[in-house]
Amino acid sequence: MTNIVAPFGYTPPDEETVSADIFRNGMAALSSAVTVVTTDGPHGPHGFTASAVCSVSDTPPTLLVCVNRSTSAHPYILEHGVLAINVLHEGQDHLSNAFSSRSRSMAERFAAGKWHKGLTGAPVLDDALVSFDCRIREIRDVGTHTVIIAHVVDATMGEAGIRSGLVWFNRQYNQTIPK
Ligand SMILES: Cc1cc2nc3c(=O)[nH]c(=O)nc-3n(C[C@H](O)[C@H](O)[C@H](O)COP(=O)(O)O)c2cc1C
Repeated sequence: MTNIVAPFGYTPPDEETVSADIFRNGMAALSSAVTVVTTDGPHGPHGFTASAVCSVSDTPPTLLVCVNRSTSAHPYILEHGVLAINVLHEGQDHLSNAFSSRSRSMAERFAAGKWHKGLTGAPVLDDALVSFDCRIREIRDVGTHTVIIAHVVDATMGEAGIRSGLVWFNRQYNQTIPK
């Protein structure tokens, strides 16, 4: 199989760009699911709130998540090589707030929910909409973030079953409503 990467080594020219503010304002209109990404291993449990998560392929089952390199969990996720992506439902704003708050210790963050160990050892939220337990396949640094491509080894539906998803839109929490 041939991998086509074009244009290879592209460097964005200064005159062909938008400001970070314009980019962020645009991204505020892109709805995304709210998740808590967790890891565990020799450095203990760590986690952070992430909305930059998306499906890559179902064969093999693959997800990607973008992690800011300044996020405290970043080095531990890469060293452990495993992560769980816990998709939140409406009413779980407190978990999203806990895992995005720099002032909260990891112990305080994890105390906001009930967890069990996934197959990889990463913490899986008992009451998630769904949790994807993953091993890291590839990483690539782009700008301020590391793009992590992860192989899904297990997917578990939470105890509550299907209900409204927690969505980040227009810089605030929303919930999904069937049309
Ligand atoms: C709704 C929401 C979505 C977020 N999505 C991401 C994301 O996809 N990637 C990321 O690196 N940070 C994301 N963040 C920010 C991190 O959760 C936050 O910067 C980080 O946990 C800060 O604390 P820490 O470095 O002490 O863990 C998001 C925050 C919120 C509230």
